Amino acid sequence: MGAMSTWKVWITGVFLAVFLTDRLTNAIAFRRENITTTLGPQLSNGAQIILPHNAGFVQATQRWSLFDPPHFTAVVEVGTEEDIATTVKFANKNNIPFLAVTGSHGTIACLGKFNGIEIRMRKLNSTVISEDGKTATFGGGKRSGEVIEALWAAGKQTVSGICECTGFLGPALGGGHGVLQGKYGIASDQFVSMRMVTADGAIREVSSSGPNSDLWWAMQGAGHNFGIVTSITSKVYDVPDGGLWSYETYVFSYDKVEAVFETINWLAQHQPPGMFNRDVIYRNPSVDPKNPILQVDLLQESVSAVAPNFTSPFRKLGPMSVGSGSGTYKDIPKWTGVNFNSIACNVADTSKIRFPIGLVSYNATAQQALMDTFSQVIGPDSPFNVSQVLFEGYSMYGVKAVPDNATAFPHRGDNQLVTVAMVNAPRPELDAQAVRIGNKLRQVLLEGSGSTELHAYVNYAAGTESLQNLYGFEPWRLKRLKELKAKYDPQDRFGYYAPIPV
Ligand SMILES: Cc1cc2nc3c(=O)[nH]c(=O)nc-3n(C[C@H](O)[C@H](O)[C@H](O)COP(=O)(O)OP(=O)(O)OC[C@H]3O[C@@H](n4cnc5c(N)ncnc54)[C@H](O)[C@@H]3O)c2cc1C
Ligand SMILES: *[C@@H]1O[C@H](CO)[C@@H](O)[C@H](O)[C@H]1NC(C)=O
Ligand SMILES: *[C@@H]1O[C@H](CO)[C@@H](O)[C@H](O)[C@H]1NC(C)=O
Ligand SMILES: *[C@@H]1O[C@H](CO)[C@@H](O)[C@H](O)[C@H]1NC(C)=O
Ligand SMILES: *[C@@H]1O[C@H](CO)[C@@H](O)[C@H](O)[C@H]1NC(C)=O
Ligand SMILES: *[C@@H]1O[C@H](CO)[C@@H](O)[C@H](O)[C@H]1NC(C)=O
Ligand SMILES: *[C@@H]1O[C@H](CO)[C@@H](O)[C@H](O)[C@H]1NC(C)=O
Repeated sequence: MGAMSTWKVWITGVFLAVFLTDRLTNAIAFRRENITTTLGPQLSNGAQIILPHNAGFVQATQRWSLFDPPHFTAVVEVGTEEDIATTVKFANKNNIPFLAVTGSHGTIACLGKFNGIEIRMRKLNSTVISEDGKTATFGGGKRSGEVIEALWAAGKQTVSGICECTGFLGPALGGGHGVLQGKYGIASDQFVSMRMVTADGAIREVSSSGPNSDLWWAMQGAGHNFGIVTSITSKVYDVPDGGLWSYETYVFSYDKVEAVFETINWLAQHQPPGMFNRDVIYRNPSVDPKNPILQVDLLQESVSAVAPNFTSPFRKLGPMSVGSGSGTYKDIPKWTGVNFNSIACNVADTSKIRFPIGLVSYNATAQQALMDTFSQVIGPDSPFNVSQVLFEGYSMYGVKAVPDNATAFPHRGDNQLVTVAMVNAPRPELDAQAVRIGNKLRQVLLEGSGSTELHAYVNYAAGTESLQNLYGFEPWRLKRLKELKAKYDPQDRFGYYAPIPV
């Protein structure tokens, strides 16, 4: 008993010391120049500086995940592109780190090292569709759902992440997977030009030609490392067939895993550009109190029911339940549980961290091993029992139509994207365990892949991955990224989200 209390006092002391040092460092940082009185008058009328004691600070700094989140000492809610440039210059002059925040869904362990100014992008939310209807320009603070909505009103669509509440650019700067990628390529393949503020506070226009054209390649896959995008012009397309989409959904028991993934391998070779599947391993005690289950969702465009030649192979496997429905493209976030009103969009006080792996195809034996391991290490009463493994089977035609070396996105060869999503209550000792379990489950898939190269989508990464894992194994890729980093961000100001070392 006595020994324990001593430990408690000691630990409290350490926490207090760390806390106070942290506070002191910030106080000193801001005493150099008072952000409210110095930066404030330089900003536009629409801008706002929100300090920790101000109303609105909690809301402006809320995160989707509490796993090792960034620490904010002030929020600058910018109203214009110039506000961003001005804030970056102020931060540089005072040696304070800054981080752009749009949808607050970024989760990678290295963000926890951040301690500084949040540059809140949300007010930059404009949409301008070009006269010829082939491109649209969006403000850099738009969320995916707002892009979908604004285009839909004009009978248009483009590739974006499925989740309505993530930023549009957060996903797209790392490639950006979405349901329309089979037709058009990933979100960054749609980029036509952009305006951005680089580490020096300069506003630059970036496209495939012109003075900053070397940056163009990097902004399509490694973009978070090079600047804050203030506006983006992307290709847009006419919505076909009134935007009709349909789905069919199955729940399979534990013992069907091998057969289901063999069928998904078949599907991957046949699914047309306007189709995708999204599958999840998770626990649902009301369906199976002992083992995890496997849900498979098939979604198809321009049909009033998913075509029988795709559904019958799954029905034949004997699912525990089958559901189906139809609606429009705009219903897809709701069907997949990532619309504005979903749990995934509402800030929950849980710690979440993901472990992605890209695969060419599924190894049915390894998929069964994954299911077995999940069942063992995440038992019915485990503190991680709401964790999931997500399988995203997008069509790849549009993605493979773009040459592998054309952009910094390195994973065009992978046809399946698997993500172990660990979820637990925010308790530090659980976080360490979550990392161990997440890596263990991912390792099962890497061993089954027949390759030693782990491909990890940067926007789902845990932060435990190597540079090669995130940005590609070809030496020329990293060489090119490092040269650009040295040229455009020599002080590593963008060094918090999957950073490329200078
Ligand atoms: C529920 C859910 C669903 C998801 N669905 C998809 C999906 O369908 N497809 C997909 O590809 N990914 C998806 N993701 C992953 C997503 O790409 C990342 O989580 C991404 O970081 C979210 O961006 P954000 O703007 O919401 O987050 P933020 O935390 O605001 O931003 C993430 C990082 O992006 C950078 N950043 C933000 N805004 C800008 C800007 N304007 N200019 C430059 N840099 C900026 C900053 O470095 C920031 O740290 C999903 C994630 C979740 C949690
Ligand atoms: C900065 O100046 C404002 C306005 O004068 C004042 O209210 C605030 O306390 C100052 N902040 C610091 C950290 O000194
Ligand atoms: C854009 O932001 C402004 C200012 O916050 C807000 O009033 C407006 O409703 C937003 N527009 C859209 C389309 O989200
Ligand atoms: C499925 O049927 C459609 C027509 O309904 C056809 O175009 C397609 O080639 C078929 N695909 C497979 C894999 O059978
Ligand atoms: C997780 O465990 C808790 C506590 O035992 C339990 O109440 C809850 O139903 C479990 N959830 C799942 C999805 O198994
Ligand atoms: C990609 O490789 C091809 C063939 O080697 C080459 O012609 C092209 O210039 C390269 N593109 C880029 C963007 O590096
Ligand atoms: C499939 O996975 C199993 C289990 O990890 C492994 O033994 C086997 O070699 C893998 N098969 C291939 C073709 O890689």
